[in-house]
Amino acid sequence: MKKATKMAALVLAMTMTVSALTACGSSADNAADAAGVEETAVEETGTDGSGEDAAADTDAAADTDAAADTDVASDTAETDAADSDADAEQSTGAMTKTEGVLTFGTNAEFPPFEFVAGTGVIDQYDGIDMAIAKQIAEDNGMTAAVENMEFDSLLVALQNGQIDAAIAGMTITEERKEEADFSIPYYTATQVMIVKEDSDIAAAADMADKKICVVQGYTGEICVNDMGYPYEAFKKGTEAVMELANGKCDVVVIDSATAQKYVDENEGLKIVEDADAFESEEYAVAVRKGNTELLDMINSAIEAKLADGTISELGVQYTEEITAE
Ligand code: ARG
Repeated sequence: MKKATKMAALVLAMTMTVSALTACGSSADNAADAAGVEETAVEETGTDGSGEDAAADTDAAADTDAAADTDVASDTAETDAADSDADAEQSTGAMTKTEGVLTFGTNAEFPPFEFVAGTGVIDQYDGIDMAIAKQIAEDNGMTAAVENMEFDSLLVALQNGQIDAAIAGMTITEERKEEADFSIPYYTATQVMIVKEDSDIAAAADMADKKICVVQGYTGEICVNDMGYPYEAFKKGTEAVMELANGKCDVVVIDSATAQKYVDENEGLKIVEDADAFESEEYAVAVRKGNTELLDMINSAIEAKLADGTISELGVQYTEEITAE
């Protein structure tokens, strides 16, 4: 009895450590994954043995109760689910909400992954993620559609069947894994600090007495919150960066590639990295819990695009496009 209680406490403590680390965009498994995306791909799609490791087990555990969760998750909706209600109901259990169409939710405020352009790869939506989404659909003989919404709404939209998958530079975190199933990762990123060129911020600890800006719901917010610093959260990256440019805040904490884009587009800003404070994060596609048919489809497509270099080419293409003057 006593032993069992002790064990349970230990397991709980371990789990808590893992999620505490994950909260700031890094975790035991992420750290290992960072070594090689493809390796991760194989690991995570493979049958997950009866491992003893809490981190590795999370997926398997999530999968077990997934079937039950999915069927219940219909009407917790908040937003404009009204018109998609009929579809949502039919979608329960089905692979996609509309036959032949893979509906991706995104928040097109996150260049180079997703942004609104004159002409995009899917309607007006362009970026690395949009190109990946289109290929996932086409590889499976489907068309890709995009629903643009707030980043914070994506997992709810998944749960209520408004979208089939979320692709939004979304970092895998333990918390989010409780709400959705994630594909194999397709991109590794990290949080960085954007500051004015003459800033004396050289490391994360230097933010202690500075005014910090983040974007609401992003892992950057979670990181700064975990560090215990006060901050102001904005709805969009561009708003936070404007605040910085206008001298109303001292530092913006946001994902690396997006930060680079903002620095390229706004004079007088630079990026400060701190690999000790901000560890690597992995972006993946999220699907409704238990929608393994769709998840497998997405995983095979991502695996193939990682293996043949398509995804890294897209990375280069969209980064260069943005950096080019
Ligand atoms: N990687 C960060 C996160 O998962 C930021 C993602 C923001 N993506 C977006 N499409 N707005 O929280």
